[in-house]
Amino acid sequence: MEAVTNSTQLINWFRNSAPYINAHRHKTFVLMIGGEALETDNFQYIINDIALLNSLGVKLVLVHGVRPQIQKQLEMNGHSSEFYQDVRITDDRSLELIKQAIGRVQIELQAGLSMGLVNSPMQGAAIRTVISNVVTAQPIGVKDGIDLCHAGKVRRIDVEGLRTQLSSGAIPIISPIGYSVTGEVFNLLAEEVATQVAIDLKADKLIGFCSNQGVLDEQGNVISELLPEQAQEHIDRNELLSGQASGTLRFLRAAVAACQADVTRCHLLSYHQDGALLKELFTRDGTGSQIVKESYEQIRPATIDDIGGLLQLIEPLEKQGILVKRSRELLENEIESFFIVERDGMVIGCAALYPFPDDKTGELACLVSHPKYRRAARADNLVAHVERRGRQLGLESIFVLTTQSIHWFRERGFVFAEISHLPNAKKEMYNLKRNSKVLVKKII
Ligand SMILES: CC(C)(COP(=O)(O)OP(=O)(O)OC[C@H]1O[C@@H](n2cnc3c(N)ncnc32)[C@H](O)[C@@H]1OP(=O)(O)O)[C@@H](O)C(=O)NCCC(=O)NCCS
Repeated sequence: MEAVTNSTQLINWFRNSAPYINAHRHKTFVLMIGGEALETDNFQYIINDIALLNSLGVKLVLVHGVRPQIQKQLEMNGHSSEFYQDVRITDDRSLELIKQAIGRVQIELQAGLSMGLVNSPMQGAAIRTVISNVVTAQPIGVKDGIDLCHAGKVRRIDVEGLRTQLSSGAIPIISPIGYSVTGEVFNLLAEEVATQVAIDLKADKLIGFCSNQGVLDEQGNVISELLPEQAQEHIDRNELLSGQASGTLRFLRAAVAACQADVTRCHLLSYHQDGALLKELFTRDGTGSQIVKESYEQIRPATIDDIGGLLQLIEPLEKQGILVKRSRELLENEIESFFIVERDGMVIGCAALYPFPDDKTGELACLVSHPKYRRAARADNLVAHVERRGRQLGLESIFVLTTQSIHWFRERGFVFAEISHLPNAKKEMYNLKRNSKVLVKKII
C-alpha cells in the first residue's frame, strides 16, 4: 500500500513539475557557489542537481568562491593577509597561494561534474565543462592609503565567448580571478564576478548558495520574496549589527545589484539543504528567498488624487459590461484597496484587493491594463503585487470573479471554484444575473 502511495506521489510530483521544466528550458541561470558550500557533505548533491538542470536544457554558468580554501592555503604556508572591507589585500605571496587554492577548487568541481557512476544520478550525464577566461580585470588600486596590490575588480566580461561556450552545451566554470591586458592576474570577489556575468549575459536568474536557508526575518523565518529595496534595508540593518558582511549578505548585495540592472529574479538558497535547488525551481512554494525586480513603472497604492485617472481607465470597460460599475463615491470609499501603475502621470493599470481575513482569502478585483499598453506583463506584475500584499495580510488564497477573462486567469494558476466556496459576505453579494465564474489561487 505504501509503495502505491509513494509511486502516486512521485507521478503527481513529476506531472506538477512539467510547467516548470518547460518554463526553464533554454533559459540562462548563473549559479554562484561559495567556497564554503564546496566543503559540505551536501556538495555532491548540489552537483547532481546541477547535472539534472543541464539535462533539462537549462544553460548554466557556474561561478565559484574560494574564501575558506584560500584561508587554509595561507595558514598551511604560514602566511596571512588582511582585509580592507570585504577585499583581501593580495600581496605577491598571497596571489601565488590563491592561484593554488583556485586550481584545486576548479579540479574538484570538474571532477564532481564528470562523474558518471552507474546507478548514481550522474549516470549518463556526460557534462562538458569549460574553465572560462572571460573576465578581464583591473586593479582596485589604493584605498584610504592602503594598497590592495593584486586585488582587482571586473572590467569587462567576454559575453560572446560565454555565449559560444553555452551554445555548445558546456557549463562554463568561472573562478574569482581575472586577467588584465597587461597579462597580470587579479584576485576578485566571486559575488562581483557572478553579478557582472549575470547582468552582461542578460541571465534569467542569478542563484546563490548561502549558509542560511535564505533571508531570515527577526524570528528566524525565511522571507520568501523581497523587492530590491527591502533586500537593501536588510543588508544595511545587518551590516550595522555584524560589522562585516557574511557570505549571505555579500550574495544579497550581489542580488540587489543584479536586480537593479534587469536580472528579474535572484534566489538565495541553503547549501546545507539537500535538494534546495530543485525545490526552488520546480515547486510552487520554493524553499529559499527570491529577490524580484518590479517593473520600472512603480506599482503603488492609489490615493484620492488618482480617482480621475482610475475612472478614465475603467469606465470604457464598465460600458462594455466587462467590469462591474463603480461610482466615483464608491471608488472614494474603496480607494485604499486599489493599486495602480502610473506612467507619465497617467493611470495605465490597476487592481484591487478586498481581504476577507476571517476566511484567510481576498478578492482580486478590477484588474485592468490600458489597451494601449498591453503585452508588457503589467497585469502579471499587478497580480504578483496583490499576491504579495495578500501574503503580508496573512491570506492563503485570492479569488476573482470574471466573465470575460477566464482563460487569462486559468493560464496564471487560478482554478475554478464553486460559488459556495466564497466567503459568506461575498456570497450574499453574488450577482446571479451576471453569472461570473469564480477562480481561486493559493498564494502560500
Ligand atoms: C485581462 C487583462 C488585465 C490582461 O492584461 P495584459 O496581460 O496586459 O494583456 P495582454 O494583452 O498583454 O495579454 C496577455 C496575454 O493574455 C491574453 N489575454 C488578454 N486578455 C484576455 C482575456 N480577456 N481572456 C483570455 N486571454 C486574454 C492575450 O491574448 C495575451 O496572450 P498571448 O500573448 O498569448 O496572445 C486585460 O486584458 C484587461 O484589462 N482586460 C479588461 C479587464 C478585465 O477583464 N479584467 C479581469 C477581470 S477583474
